[in-house]
Amino acid sequence: MCGIIGYTGQQAALRPLLEGLATLEYRGYDSAGVVVLDDAGATPALTIAKRAGKLGVLVDALRDQDLSGRTGLGHTRWATHGVPNDVNAHPHLSGDGDIAVIHNGIIENFAELKAELLGAGRTFMSDTDTEVVAQLVASLVEQCRRDGNEAPGSALVQAVRIAARRLEGAFSLAFVDRRDPDVIVAIRREAPLVLGRADGASILASDVAGLLAHTRDVEALLNDQVAILTPQGVTVTDLEGNPADGHRFTVDWDIHAAEKQGYSHFMLKEIHEQPGAVRETLRARTDAEGIIVLDELRLDPTELRHMDKVVIVACGTSFHAGMVAKYAIEHWARIPVEVEIASEFRYRDPILSSRMLVVAISQSGETADTLAAAAHARAQHSRVVAITNVVGSSLAREADAVLYTRAGPEIGVAATKTFITQIVALDVLALYLAQLRRALFPEECRDQLARMEALPELIEQVLDCEPQIAELARSFAGAGYVMFFGRHVGLPIAMEGALKLKEISYVHAEGFAAGEMKHGPIALIDSGGPVVALATAGHVRTKILSNIQQVKGRGAVVLAIATEGDTEIKEHADHVVYVPEAHELLYPVLTVVPLQLLGYHIATVLGRDVDQPRNLAKTVTVE
Ligand code: M6R
Repeated sequence: MCGIIGYTGQQAALRPLLEGLATLEYRGYDSAGVVVLDDAGATPALTIAKRAGKLGVLVDALRDQDLSGRTGLGHTRWATHGVPNDVNAHPHLSGDGDIAVIHNGIIENFAELKAELLGAGRTFMSDTDTEVVAQLVASLVEQCRRDGNEAPGSALVQAVRIAARRLEGAFSLAFVDRRDPDVIVAIRREAPLVLGRADGASILASDVAGLLAHTRDVEALLNDQVAILTPQGVTVTDLEGNPADGHRFTVDWDIHAAEKQGYSHFMLKEIHEQPGAVRETLRARTDAEGIIVLDELRLDPTELRHMDKVVIVACGTSFHAGMVAKYAIEHWARIPVEVEIASEFRYRDPILSSRMLVVAISQSGETADTLAAAAHARAQHSRVVAITNVVGSSLAREADAVLYTRAGPEIGVAATKTFITQIVALDVLALYLAQLRRALFPEECRDQLARMEALPELIEQVLDCEPQIAELARSFAGAGYVMFFGRHVGLPIAMEGALKLKEISYVHAEGFAAGEMKHGPIALIDSGGPVVALATAGHVRTKILSNIQQVKGRGAVVLAIATEGDTEIKEHADHVVYVPEAHELLYPVLTVVPLQLLGYHIATVLGRDVDQPRNLAKTVTVE
């Protein structure tokens, strides 16, 4: 959720901190802050600047400040404890002003710790759980110093290790101590933290975007590892102080991939990148004979062949991709599939076994609910396959196997190209399972793959509808409520279309199973109210036409997404956006595109902050 960055090196820290925060702002943007440790004078000092609002507010406030210290921390916040204001913004200082901390995550036992620290005479300024950590570590540093830990950084490192044993919850934390000018100490548990080295500097960040200006060689800290950063290098230990290694990898995209490149918003750029992203997802998934080979899957094919059931867990848009995949896996591989919201799954005592394949989908690979669901499944001896976009992410590391979506960096909070590539990766997985179980003939698999290879070209054609959608968006933007409906694979796309619209435009929108309309939702239809119907060719099309009639009869204005050549649909719907003909199970990859564009253009008509919508964050690392 929050973005954190730390820098210690040869140059003034402020600039790399602010540049790093700019790349991490998509993780949270309720407030931003930095602390810089200045050791130029006789007494080293911590200078803090923090402001409610987006990073730009902080940058303006710092414009005339001369901060030359070469060690510092920065933070961009998605508020959990305490409203987004200046006081609750990070960094937080200990009462004595010696220790500063930044935090991503939640300290679940903060109330108990706070009561204890208050009892010991410590006072608090903010409503955050993070300030408790600052105070706890400060009291432990005092104790460690009394015990003779005088070497640079050693009291702080000791204190952080001891404090970690008392903290419950998910966190990545980074600390500086005024008395140790060149040292940053960091720790992580269930929240991401990556480390990099470049040009005499050591840098930490909550994800690789924060490091890319410096290096593409990254070390991801693992749970309960402690990192000590100095300008000379990075040392990683476990909680006992034994040397340890994080997970090292090289990022295969550079900083330019995370720039807008002339588009007015990242979301629009990412929508237009979808053909290329799908091409990448499909690249090199077959051998010369057209047999699917998923080397990166690292699971025994015999074991996979004998799975009784597939259970898909995910959140938000990734959950919708899982819903789409259910149709493909059941139809092609003939294995029953359950799809469940990750945050519900883990708390309902699901029945799992070693003969169940759990597929955890998360573009970021860091969603706390999905990680917890995957961990629960592994504890019950199920095999877990991760579908993720982020190499080296927690989910990729912790799953038994991983299938990367290769969509490239997605910065807009609204998931677009990662959604489409998740569906494509899941379709490949479905065909792989079908191949292993001989549920399809090899030529049937090859035919399906050939249809999938054609998708990038078809998405290009769908993107041509943008001017039409932009025009429609002007008439839909005034609606208080937009209803989406579909059947079969159209249902998850209706839900995804509604999610896109509501999250970036704040227009109330819901997606329904078209057959359920008559059981309640149709009461919402008002004269002139917009309804978006997924009405592409297939075995449920005529049913959808009836559902369109039912809402038209009650005054709805209907936009239908239909298959090219379907002229009859014009007799039913007020507006039609056409997509090219495709296999019925592949339509979601095409039909979601006009809905992404509709959400985008309505949001821009309404003047919304498309890439950073209110109350949201790109990576949701808290429960
Ligand atoms: O990183 P994940 O795919 O696990 O994220 C899950 C949801 O938080 C995410 O899809 C969210 O719903 C997006 N804002 C949707 O656009």
